[in-house]
Amino acid sequence: MLLQPYNLMAHSFLLFLLFSYIISTNIHACKQTERSSLISFASTLSSPPLNWISIDCCCWKGITCNQDGWVTHLLLPFKGIKGGISPSLGNLTHLTHLNLSHNSLYGSLETQFFLSLNRLEFLDLSYNLLSGELPFSLLSSNIRTVDLSSNHFHGSIPSSIFQRASNLTSFNVSNNTFTGYVPSSICLHSSPFVRLLDFSSNEFSGNLALGLGECSKLEVFRAGHNNLSGLFPEDIYNATTLEEIAIPLNSLRGAISEKIVNLTNLAILDLYINELSSELPFNLGKLSKLKFVNLDFNNLEGALPPSLMNCTNLIELHLGFNNLEGDISMLDFYRLSQLTKLDLRVNSFTGTLPTSLYSCRSLKAIGLTRNHLEGQIQAEILSLKSLSFLSLGYNRFTNLTGAMKILMSSESLHTLLLTGSFVGEGMPSDDDMVDFDGFQNLWMLSLAYCDLTGQIPVWLSKLKNLELLSLNFNQITGRIPSWLGTLPRLFYINLSYNRISGRRQTYPPRRLSYFPGLIDLSHNNIYGDIPTEISQLQLLRELYLNSNNFAGVIPDQISNLKDLEVLNLSMNHLSGKIPSSLVSLNFLKRFDVSCNNLQGPIPTSTQIQSFNTSSFEGNPKLCGAPLPNKCGPNKGIDEDNENNKDSDNWLHQLPWFYIFAALGFIVGFWGVCGSLVINKTWRYTYFQFIDTMNRRLRG
Ligand SMILES: *[C@@H]1O[C@H](CO)[C@@H](O)[C@H](O)[C@H]1NC(C)=O
Ligand SMILES: *[C@@H]1O[C@H](CO)[C@@H](O)[C@H](O)[C@H]1NC(C)=O
Ligand SMILES: *[C@@H]1O[C@H](CO)[C@@H](O)[C@H](O)[C@H]1NC(C)=O
Ligand SMILES: *[C@@H]1O[C@H](CO)[C@@H](O)[C@H](O)[C@H]1NC(C)=O
Ligand SMILES: *[C@@H]1O[C@H](CO)[C@@H](O)[C@H](O)[C@H]1NC(C)=O
Ligand SMILES: *[C@@H]1O[C@H](CO)[C@@H](O)[C@H](O)[C@H]1NC(C)=O
Ligand SMILES: *[C@@H]1O[C@H](CO)[C@@H](O)[C@H](O)[C@H]1NC(C)=O
Ligand SMILES: *[C@@H]1O[C@H](CO)[C@@H](O)[C@H](O)[C@H]1NC(C)=O
Ligand SMILES: *[C@@H]1O[C@H](CO)[C@@H](O)[C@H](O)[C@H]1NC(C)=O
Ligand SMILES: *[C@@H]1O[C@H](CO)[C@@H](O)[C@H](O)[C@H]1NC(C)=O
Ligand SMILES: *[C@@H]1O[C@H](CO)[C@@H](O)[C@H](O)[C@H]1NC(C)=O
Ligand SMILES: *[C@@H]1O[C@H](CO)[C@@H](O)[C@H](O)[C@H]1NC(C)=O
Repeated sequence: MLLQPYNLMAHSFLLFLLFSYIISTNIHACKQTERSSLISFASTLSSPPLNWISIDCCCWKGITCNQDGWVTHLLLPFKGIKGGISPSLGNLTHLTHLNLSHNSLYGSLETQFFLSLNRLEFLDLSYNLLSGELPFSLLSSNIRTVDLSSNHFHGSIPSSIFQRASNLTSFNVSNNTFTGYVPSSICLHSSPFVRLLDFSSNEFSGNLALGLGECSKLEVFRAGHNNLSGLFPEDIYNATTLEEIAIPLNSLRGAISEKIVNLTNLAILDLYINELSSELPFNLGKLSKLKFVNLDFNNLEGALPPSLMNCTNLIELHLGFNNLEGDISMLDFYRLSQLTKLDLRVNSFTGTLPTSLYSCRSLKAIGLTRNHLEGQIQAEILSLKSLSFLSLGYNRFTNLTGAMKILMSSESLHTLLLTGSFVGEGMPSDDDMVDFDGFQNLWMLSLAYCDLTGQIPVWLSKLKNLELLSLNFNQITGRIPSWLGTLPRLFYINLSYNRISGRRQTYPPRRLSYFPGLIDLSHNNIYGDIPTEISQLQLLRELYLNSNNFAGVIPDQISNLKDLEVLNLSMNHLSGKIPSSLVSLNFLKRFDVSCNNLQGPIPTSTQIQSFNTSSFEGNPKLCGAPLPNKCGPNKGIDEDNENNKDSDNWLHQLPWFYIFAALGFIVGFWGVCGSLVINKTWRYTYFQFIDTMNRRLRG
């Protein structure tokens, strides 16, 4: 016990020594003012502990000081920081590197921000929730990198803020809501060395008057997904160091000029969804470094320049949805050995599939839907060992049986879309496809709108990986085969508009309720009644049984489908009452029981009475609102629910009829265009497209 005071004293002494040691030996020891600025900065934030407690702030996590103890680096990206940026940050006047990216900072930057931090060289505030307008003060001459992307900044960016930024190399403000003009003449008057400019995904509008002529170092220019209009900027061709031009999703008009051949480093040309209307530059092929070209959704016309086949580094070529024409069989694809995607959909190309295409061994996706191509598929197509997506719909190809016999040997093929091609031929029958063993990796097959005759062949039952099958709009007769239930992965099937008949059949039991779904069996001759087990398709959103010969009552159990949004039972022979339990379907948006033999009062709910009378018409014994005929005292009493007994039910056993609502939507859209979007990039394009269309609707 006596030793205790002595111990204490010894400890204090050691501590004292320790502090003296730190203070005297650490020449980086931070200035008190810097420390308090940092503490004040941190005090407005909530974050996982930064552990900024030791005396010397230069040792704190994320902080670096110079020899005089001034804080030069404040690097706290991905730290889960929330809160506003305190004005005290502006007191760290020696900061050269500020990186607070990927946090949850909100609020705006104070007006003096760039003025106080005029030594800043690298500023990265990307991926935060910052808002407001950019501070009015000018960028300093020290600044090299500005990344304010992926925030909620708005307002305009006046060209004048670049006035002094002579060392600027990279400026990224993408993914905000900036408006006004894209700042121009950035290189001309101020920042001659800029390499990277990214204005994409904002609301910039008006002409793109860039003044890029003086940009002797510019490599990347992006301004896609804005509201830009006017002519494609001519002076862009003077920025000869450009490697990437990406201005998709705007309304740029005019031509892609021959002058583009001066951009000898160009690797990426991304201008999809604009209104460009020229021919493709004749000498485009001189751009030997081109890797990625996407000009989808423009009004380009004329033939493909033969020189294009000199772009031996091309990886993706998207020229879909234009007015291009010409015989493509004459083109020599032979040298495009890197090409993975070729998209020429929805144009007016003629000729046969160029045989030289079969030597592009890297090809993964070929889209030729909606052109005027003819001829047969050649066996050489099998030399494309990576081909997984092939879309040939709405052309004049012939010999479907031959094509299927060849293509079935492809081990890479995932998606085969032949919609609207091979019109009027026969469905390749089991006799045609003897000893069938193929399509082992096919998961999507469309033979819709082909006007095919014949029956659903048994060889289809061997496509063990099939998930999606479209046979709608053909002349297919016979029954829905029972083996459909044995395909383990099939979850979407469209057999509507055929001549399928016969009584609904029993299938092997299947797992239920996997997908929010959609069933479309409309426009066939299916008879029998609607099974009560339908109630087990709990996630069903859309059910189309219209234009068949279904009879019996509408099963009460349909009301268990709580997510049901569309129910079309029109044009059948359904009888009995409309079950009053239907009033509980809160999400029902479209409902149609017209042209049946239904009777009695229409159940009452705000929802049901809000549908058009046309949804109920053609049922002479039906009464009550919204129909004009009032219900008499006895109407609706002769209930006839006996029909509910039939247990020969099948619908619940077909989980492969389900489809994600989104997928259905995509299928629907591309169905119109005769193709289906599978590939990620194309799907992205599609969503962007819809997005732009929406924006334009708004604007
Ligand atoms: C920043 O510096 C100013 C004076 O230059 C001072 O008034 C203010 O208190 C300082 N703020 C902080 C948080 O240190
Ligand atoms: C900021 O930090 C992130 C994450 O470390 C990094 O990816 C980014 O390049 C940095 N920004 C700058 C301008 O250096
Ligand atoms: C630009 O950066 C260089 C270093 O690369 C530096 O020497 C020069 O002083 C900077 N210019 C200005 C105006 O700050
Ligand atoms: C700009 O920042 C975004 C992230 O917000 C990034 O995706 C994009 O690649 C950057 N632009 C350039 C040209 O690096
Ligand atoms: C755009 O910014 C938001 C945050 O504002 C972010 O969540 C999103 O990932 C960004 N998008 C891209 C493509 O970088
Ligand atoms: C592009 O450069 C040429 C030749 O250097 C020059 O005559 C022309 O004015 C420049 N165009 C623009 C728009 O800067
Ligand atoms: C390409 O650049 C050269 C000089 O670098 C110039 O003489 C020529 O006119 C330019 N060509 C086009 C088509 O702009
Ligand atoms: C393709 O490039 C070769 C060699 O550079 C050249 O001789 C030929 O004319 C070019 N072809 C076309 C169609 O431009
Ligand atoms: C259809 O294609 C197959 C396989 O290529 C071929 O054997 C057959 O002769 C073709 N039929 C016709 C009528 O051209
Ligand atoms: C099924 O095909 C028909 C006819 O082509 C079409 O109208 C319907 O939208 C398709 N159903 C689904 C769910 O895609
Ligand atoms: C239901 O189907 C019928 C017949 O196929 C069609 O005319 C009607 O427009 C459809 N109703 C709704 C609400 O979609
Ligand atoms: C897009 O630009 C046009 C003028 O080019 C303008 O009328 C329209 O309001 C703008 N739309 C949006 C959403 O900014």
